[in-house]
Amino acid sequence: MDIVTSPTTPDGNPEMADAAPDPKDPPLIRREDYTPFPWLVPEVSLDFSLGIDKTRVKSALTVQRNARANRSDVLRLNGDGLTVAEVLVDGEAVNNWSMDGGDLMVPLREDSHLVEVTTEIDPAANSQLMGLYASNGMLCTQCEAEGFRRITFFPDRPDVLSTYTVRMKGSKEDFPVLLSNGNRTASGEGEDGTHWAEWHDPWPKPSYLFALVAGKLVANTDTFTTMSGRKVDLAIWVREEDLPRTDHAMESLKRSMKWDEEAFGREYDLDVFNIVAVSDFNMGAMENKSLNIFNTKYVLADEETATDGDYDAIEGVIGHEYFHNWSGNRITCRDWFQLSLKEGFTVLRDQLFSAAMGSEPVKRIEDVRVLRSVQFPEDSGPLAHPIRPDSYQEISNFYTATVYNKGAEVIRMMRTMAGEERFRAGTDLYFERHDGEAATCEDFVTAIEDGAGLDLSEFRRWYEQAGTPKVSAKLEHAGGTATLQLEQSVPATPGQPDKRPMPIPLRVALFDRTSGKHRGEQLLTLTEARQTFDFPGFDETPVLSINRGFSAPVSIEREVADDDLVFLAAHDDDPFARYEAMQDLVVGHLRGLLSGSVDGARRDSGRAAIGEAFRAVITDRELDDLMRGELLTLPGETYLAEQMLVADPAAIRAEREGLKAWLGQTLEGELVAMHQRAVTAPGGMSLEAKGARKLKTQALVYLAAGNPERAEAMAAEQYDAATTMTDRQGALMVLTSLQGPQRTHKLLDFYKRFKDNALVVDKWFALQASSLHPKVLEQVKALADHPDFTLKNPNRVRSLYMPFTGTAQGFHAASGEGYRMIADLILALDPLNPQTAARFVPSLGRWRRIEPGRSALMKAELERIARAPKLSRDTYEQVTRSLG
Ligand code: TRP
Ligand code: ZN
Repeated sequence: MDIVTSPTTPDGNPEMADAAPDPKDPPLIRREDYTPFPWLVPEVSLDFSLGIDKTRVKSALTVQRNARANRSDVLRLNGDGLTVAEVLVDGEAVNNWSMDGGDLMVPLREDSHLVEVTTEIDPAANSQLMGLYASNGMLCTQCEAEGFRRITFFPDRPDVLSTYTVRMKGSKEDFPVLLSNGNRTASGEGEDGTHWAEWHDPWPKPSYLFALVAGKLVANTDTFTTMSGRKVDLAIWVREEDLPRTDHAMESLKRSMKWDEEAFGREYDLDVFNIVAVSDFNMGAMENKSLNIFNTKYVLADEETATDGDYDAIEGVIGHEYFHNWSGNRITCRDWFQLSLKEGFTVLRDQLFSAAMGSEPVKRIEDVRVLRSVQFPEDSGPLAHPIRPDSYQEISNFYTATVYNKGAEVIRMMRTMAGEERFRAGTDLYFERHDGEAATCEDFVTAIEDGAGLDLSEFRRWYEQAGTPKVSAKLEHAGGTATLQLEQSVPATPGQPDKRPMPIPLRVALFDRTSGKHRGEQLLTLTEARQTFDFPGFDETPVLSINRGFSAPVSIEREVADDDLVFLAAHDDDPFARYEAMQDLVVGHLRGLLSGSVDGARRDSGRAAIGEAFRAVITDRELDDLMRGELLTLPGETYLAEQMLVADPAAIRAEREGLKAWLGQTLEGELVAMHQRAVTAPGGMSLEAKGARKLKTQALVYLAAGNPERAEAMAAEQYDAATTMTDRQGALMVLTSLQGPQRTHKLLDFYKRFKDNALVVDKWFALQASSLHPKVLEQVKALADHPDFTLKNPNRVRSLYMPFTGTAQGFHAASGEGYRMIADLILALDPLNPQTAARFVPSLGRWRRIEPGRSALMKAELERIARAPKLSRDTYEQVTRSLG
């Protein structure tokens, strides 16, 4: 089949069953074109005869005309790469069906029918990991967004809700465990060593929430009793050798269930909840009804093999998928443009959950750091889109930080404006009003409006407009009154040249310089392009603390003296604002140096201010160590690059490392003392213990820049003494960026210790691929030939190449070799796993914001990819948009 030259036949031709649409011209799907599906499918029965390389699927759909849609006498069942074995209508074989591209078209005359279709698929050949596929000998599914159509013909869209009955049979030896959604209603033995099971899910759901798992698995089991007294059987299914590492996931699940009852009044609605861990998975996890499927990375943990960050991520993702049971499953999306309805809201819910389980301020800082380093670049680049996109060619490309993380920020703003209690009234109304429906973002906003008593008419623009708003703030003082002048602008983004002002809720406080206190925080909502706010009763100019708690996802521009930032870093009672003052101090300093507007003397005075602030943070006895660790974190290179119209990655790296080295030298004594104190702190999983571990590695990071020999010895010692992966990985990260003999020793030791644990081997790849070592490019090239490297496992691919795209000396090597490596990767991976391949395109897509020499090289690589004879829809869309 030549997918380049064969056009799709609109009238449908059975011989064209395999023909994919011309990938050079995938149709643009538009939000405004939504129409309801002409048919309802109240019930689905699926019958699977399972085999690793041959699975037969018989489906039976009850279909009825949808009175709320335009009439059609043909039923379109989506298919992707499927061939038809047999079609029955009301029990009779028919041959009046046809194909339209991959879709099956079945003419129907009456108001209701039973449609049965038999197909055959090859899970072992499924390298895309969408649909039914094999992983380590087990069979599992991934259907969101459009994977169900790779299993059987179906109206594969989220607004068609059905109750599912699933029957599966297969070899008892190969597939001792057979799972699907809902409750197991029957099971038994078959002939020739087979067995079977039947599952029924009473909750109507769209096809993307279907799941099936068959394999050799064992379970960690437990129970949870819900607030109304329903006992739920919980199970986390893994390969036998992984069972000892499932306790944290189970605890996280129980905490999630409890928290959702308390924080949102949401109770679980079935008698079973299953989680399965799979090592080949395109993303983090999937919220299939009562059968969540997880990347092993977000399930398995013990202290020896998982870091504190891994523990937190597991808790967050377990929570996220569980919370989808209400925000996503009970209320789903009308169409994929509404993705943020479930994802933005669920991310907010998992953020609030993690904050409640750990340190609220630290969680907030971490979330903002992710937003700034991943979403801000999206918003300022060629792939910018609103949290509710207007069009797509491939929906997989819109599972983005914008839809997820900015989506969460937008809902968080509603919560800030309403206050916690009224926001809860809004979400209560939303859940009540739309339970059982496929809803829209507009439905959500209206429910919050009605339930919380807010007017969100202008606020809806946050769903429409892409781009990170800029807010400039200027504080003036005259005649005893402080006046705050605020101005907003939303930058132009692709397809949106002109923007309108948006309501921006800003938590603000004005500090009295002499008392060091403020008179109460205020919530100002900037609704116009330009607005002023008066604050009477100030004898001298106060110090402005603005966007406290990061109340709005905007970038604040203001002229502020270093002294004021040092003041806020030490005195602000909002922890986020303290962090922000430290960041601003460093960003201002580095930006000055990078733009060449700062001479040697200003460099010294800038460093002195930063050094003082660091010293104050290191010695502040009132700070907890987790927060101390945040305050001692320098802004990342991508965030710094964002601050510049065009960035020179090498210069950013050099200035940032220069500052690190200066801090390491100037504060050597303090950092060594901090490290020593942290070494003596007790272990365990308390916030104190986690804080101490964070500081140990943090100290080493600065010392490595300032005094490499001393840091090498200390890191080697930390590595050898380590009883946790946090300490061991932290030490190894520092050593990997140095060039002493311990680098090789410890990398070898680490590999030998953990070579049988895929998730830890991923860390081993990632540490080397993210290092500051000047030869990182050669090292990554060599690692690609390592026997443990494979393009077939997304975790492994990501662990080697994602960190590499952040290396100034590797990815951004002036020769262009780093860009070429990533383009080669995309081309090699695209035929195997287009979803994962397309995720690497944005790194090259930043070309317009990079200095001219490198920019041209990046663009040339994108053009080379675009010229490839065959490209997936995923990669094609990302590359053409990046060039456009
Ligand atoms: N809905 C899933 C989540 O939030 C993510 C998801 C979407 C996904 N598409 C996927 C996971 C494809 C794996 C593969 O959390
Ligand atoms: Zn999600």
